[in-house]
Amino acid sequence: MMKGVILAAGHGSRLLPFTSYRPKHLLPVAGKPILHRSMEYLRDILKIDDVVIVVGHQRNIIMDYFKDGEELGMNISYVVQHMSQAHGLAAAVNLVEHDVSNDFVLLLGDNLFQADLSKCVDLHFSNNASATIHIEENEFPQRYGVVELDDDDNVVSLEEKPVNPKSNFVITGFYVFSPAIFKMIKGLKPSTRGEYELTDAIQRLVVNGYSVKAARIDGWRLDIGYPEDLISVNRLYLNDTTHRILGDVKDSTIIPPVYISKNCKITSSTIGPYVMIENGVTINSCEIRDTVILENSEIDHTLMANSIVGTQSKVIGIKSNSLKVGDYSIITNEIY
Ligand code: DAU
Repeated sequence: MMKGVILAAGHGSRLLPFTSYRPKHLLPVAGKPILHRSMEYLRDILKIDDVVIVVGHQRNIIMDYFKDGEELGMNISYVVQHMSQAHGLAAAVNLVEHDVSNDFVLLLGDNLFQADLSKCVDLHFSNNASATIHIEENEFPQRYGVVELDDDDNVVSLEEKPVNPKSNFVITGFYVFSPAIFKMIKGLKPSTRGEYELTDAIQRLVVNGYSVKAARIDGWRLDIGYPEDLISVNRLYLNDTTHRILGDVKDSTIIPPVYISKNCKITSSTIGPYVMIENGVTINSCEIRDTVILENSEIDHTLMANSIVGTQSKVIGIKSNSLKVGDYSIITNEIY
């Protein structure tokens, strides 16, 4: 059976203040943490039950949440990447060398996929490749790992966040590797930003004559790097899954889809569409759409759109409802 490896170390500093109390991988998407959704994806779409998670900063919160994986019907183990150790995706992958003996799947813990990536795994084996990378066309290739391809989707070169990208094809955060990748990581030097880049390790596979393939597969994919990504990814999941109201709603209008968690109290309000509300939230006399509200917040007499409300925030009499898609606001008592 194939093993899955998920990278979930790193600081999530681009998502502050929401990552001051929890790792970004546990921020909620339509009622479930990002990493919970990745686990279900590995289990249900890729039929992978055996997973190693690389954890670092705030690791105890992740380990307490998933434990040994039994609740998900999976077998989960952990490898720690300490802050004092080498940094970068290649350094993180290197830590699992002794946990995988055959070809394995690598998933970056801040990416979510709708695309059926089992096709990527099938392509990897049918091509007898040493690495297969899921790619997509992207209008901002400078922000990603960029691949250059030949006519048969063989990868001929790779660069991490290049200033002058050679193509619009970017690495999404899903890879299938043979153990040859560990040999390539061994000789790496840190990049100019001081990280051991996985992109450089894959480039070494190419240079050394190993077969590296790219796979384009239909369906959306998002990486949660910035606060506004939380609003977008919640919108996508609420569209894809049925909406759910678990909390207590009185004298209110609900416009689907929404996700209202248990232990919430909503009174005299209009909620939706695309609102995700975590546990223990109280809302009274509000109009709220396209918004993510984190746990135990209290919102009163407020009009709100395209916003994220931090954990335990108190919001009274705010009007941010004129924000359009693309603009967003952060309303929070969390510490930056
Ligand atoms: O999102 C796709 C992109 O992800 C690719 O196009 C790039 O080639 C790839 O390098 C990566 O770039 P990012 O800058 O987005 O990577 P980030 O630092 O956000 O880390 C991605 C995940 O890996 C995240 O869940 C944290 C984890 N990680 C990261 C580092 C640097 C670790 O576990 N250990 C690490 O040392």
